[in-house]
Amino acid sequence: TQLKLFRSSFLDFIDDPFYESEETSVRYLADGLLVVESGIIIDFDDYNILKDKYQGFTITHYPDLLILPGFIDTHIHFPQTEMIASYGEQLLEWLNQYTFPIERKFSSKEYAQKIASFFLDELLKNGTTTALVFATVFPQSVDAFFEEAYRRNLRMISGKVMMDSHAPDYLKDTPETSYQDSKRLIQTWHKKGRLLYAITPRFAITSSREQLKIAGKLLTEFPDVYLQTHLSENLKEVEFVAGLFPEAPNYLGVYDQAGLVGERSIFAHSIHLTPDEFKRLSEAKSAIAFCPTSNLFLGSGLFKLHQAKSKTHPINVGLGSDIGAGTSFSLLQTANEAYKVAQLQNQTLSPFQALFLATLGGAKALKLEDKIGNFDIGKEADFIVLDYNSTPLMRLINQQISEPQTRLKIAETIFSLIILGDDRAIQATYIMGERAYSKE
Ligand code: GUN
Ligand code: FE
Repeated sequence: TQLKLFRSSFLDFIDDPFYESEETSVRYLADGLLVVESGIIIDFDDYNILKDKYQGFTITHYPDLLILPGFIDTHIHFPQTEMIASYGEQLLEWLNQYTFPIERKFSSKEYAQKIASFFLDELLKNGTTTALVFATVFPQSVDAFFEEAYRRNLRMISGKVMMDSHAPDYLKDTPETSYQDSKRLIQTWHKKGRLLYAITPRFAITSSREQLKIAGKLLTEFPDVYLQTHLSENLKEVEFVAGLFPEAPNYLGVYDQAGLVGERSIFAHSIHLTPDEFKRLSEAKSAIAFCPTSNLFLGSGLFKLHQAKSKTHPINVGLGSDIGAGTSFSLLQTANEAYKVAQLQNQTLSPFQALFLATLGGAKALKLEDKIGNFDIGKEADFIVLDYNSTPLMRLINQQISEPQTRLKIAETIFSLIILGDDRAIQATYIMGERAYSKE
């Protein structure tokens, strides 16, 4: 069999730096070698330790660059790609005025295919190799997305939006059609290649009690699929939900009563949670997708990351771009705004913590830490080659920091990469050891 070898500096995480020291959770190899066989990592260590073992093999060498695990985006809407930067509204008006009319276009499978293809190219260009993706209410939009992701051999999770209430008729399904369509899509796509399915009720406002129950029924029938939805993003939304579901103790309780709060459930935003809701998410081992660019763009609020990552009630958190309420496909830019959201609450988010959220943290949120998220042997070789000197300004700043050879210096370099970097810093993206994107 053919081996693929990559030599460069490498950075990944072997533990959660929110709970363990950065000393023990960060793994940095100034000169490392990654060995891939049939898409899987079979060896990873210092170049000097491995070089004799792999004498004679061709090595792809990236000097002066940095290899990271591929970024993991835990919340994004592929059909909203063309509506980024829609002006002037907050969540509920933004949905009615901009989002629903755009999603209507995805009743055309051909159109969905075109946007899915653009979207996946954009993810790879930004170094994102796995994402948890909303499609639309139209099952053909899910087929189109999965077909394009399958052709690219990507590890992607997606699902058909379920929505039968408080939306235009052209975008509504019914509990029965949403059940039948979701079931057919699960049987077609879940575990096909690297693809996985997520049951996707849009949020509590757009699903009836009956439909939420149906979503719960699907989860019991297919216990290894995911559940993705939105939770407590906007104060008017929270108030609306309280009026619609007076029997529920809080917003999360609406989902809980339908059996939707479990280990494979990922709740986007979760900004205005009560301590009880944080506690319940922790108990249930559910995850939160933190979407800072979206939360600032829509004026939704400041996510309490440090409450989610508390020692007493720890919750898995990943980063989400939330395109098209989010403003950048780049998880570097998303981490940049995550840092600022922490600053506004007098908290700090360290460069390594931010990078963890974009990599192993995302993998843990998606319960995929046995497959992706770092360079452990046996994992899938999805990784990115970064140029931390990708602009003249970054080069100037890094010269001032001096050569990034020590752990302390690499932290400063990572921070400048997060604050100043974007798609220009992504030199190449590899999927299962194969180059899928190259800047040149
Ligand atoms: N809540 C319900 N639907 C959406 C959506 O499409 N985007 C965001 N940001 N929040 C939502
Ligand atoms: Fe969203």
